Amino acid sequence: MGADGDLLRSAARTRRRAKLHLCDGRLDQFGAEDREARQAAEHASITHRHRAVATGGAVRWEPSLLFRPSTGGGDRHTRYATEGGPSLTPLDPMTSRRPAAEAASGYDAGAFSHHMTGEQGRLRALEKLWDPFTEHSLRRAGVPAAARCLEVGAGAGSVARMLARICPGGHVTATDIDTRFFAELAAEERVTVLSHDVTQDGFPAGSFEVVHARMVLCHLSCPEQVLAAMSQWLVPGGLLLVEDFDLAPADASPHPVMRRGLHVAEQTLEASQGSDLRLGRRLQALVTDAGFDLGGMAVQPVLIGDGGPADEFWRLSFAQLHEFQARNSSPLAGELDAAMSLIDRPDFTDIGMHAVSVWGRKPGGPLSDPSA
Ligand SMILES: C[S@@+](CC[C@H](N)C(=O)[O-])C[C@H]1O[C@@H](n2cnc3c(N)ncnc32)[C@H](O)[C@@H]1O
Repeated sequence: MGADGDLLRSAARTRRRAKLHLCDGRLDQFGAEDREARQAAEHASITHRHRAVATGGAVRWEPSLLFRPSTGGGDRHTRYATEGGPSLTPLDPMTSRRPAAEAASGYDAGAFSHHMTGEQGRLRALEKLWDPFTEHSLRRAGVPAAARCLEVGAGAGSVARMLARICPGGHVTATDIDTRFFAELAAEERVTVLSHDVTQDGFPAGSFEVVHARMVLCHLSCPEQVLAAMSQWLVPGGLLLVEDFDLAPADASPHPVMRRGLHVAEQTLEASQGSDLRLGRRLQALVTDAGFDLGGMAVQPVLIGDGGPADEFWRLSFAQLHEFQARNSSPLAGELDAAMSLIDRPDFTDIGMHAVSVWGRKPGGPLSDPSA
């Protein structure tokens, strides 16, 4: 294996010691004496994991992804079940989540896995509808021009590009569990592309002035622990900006077919990859509970059927969810189809969700521009 192999082996050992087992509640960080080994580990891990990503992977279709019949209980999801069609599993009324056992094995097994046909186009449509809102929030929050930025779960990469533009003297580390849709950004001088699982892999404390994550926390089983880790990765005074959907407007939709379609979409994602499409509603509390000083919050309705930029996102999302359910021979596929067919009807417009953006500062000092 030679010198490269030795480096990788020692890196693997060091990475194992250094991993942040966030979802297990364990926080095991490098000591100062490990600094050299850590740098070797990070270098080797970037090289090694990029190679692995390029090979792609196979899709798993698991029967456990199908919905179980409703067990009753009188909460709002039981009510939806009375609107006709197959039953939806009730939420836990205390947490608004279904039991963890309902979820399959994470993002990669879900309906919006990068392995799904069309996922890149769907992510591009998400960027088109959300990027202007994100840029507005970033500018309101105040991003230093020379900031070292971390973009977590970069998806198809538009926010990493945006941060590189907003910080002409800074640097952007763009991460994801699957970097295939923005791998080309590695050629940019001020961008590092990194295969990185935010629930497992760490960064040295104080590595960044800015951390951003959009539509990522809602897919994780432990957003609280991940926010705590993000705080460690920031310098004192560092800026956190997180964004997520809140599906609550769907509950009050006057269009039963769309209401039902959006709820089926919600539960397909929750059952297949553990996602919580209502996390946006809790985002502000999560950020302050993680110890950040609240900077601000912005909310934008995401319309459906108005001919705007969100329509393509909804079309592609429903189509992908439909394909996912149809492959599992689920009768819910028809309900997704019915909702999708409403989008292009001239007499239909609805509020599908709210997009929520929350930012805050890590206490401990004013955020200084590293170039100053
Ligand atoms: C809905 S997409 C959002 C993409 C991008 N943030 C955006 O808003 O355009 C969610 C992204 O989070 C990534 N992701 C999911 N779980 C992750 C994890 N544990 N660590 C890092 N990224 C993750 C997915 O691979 C996917 O690219």
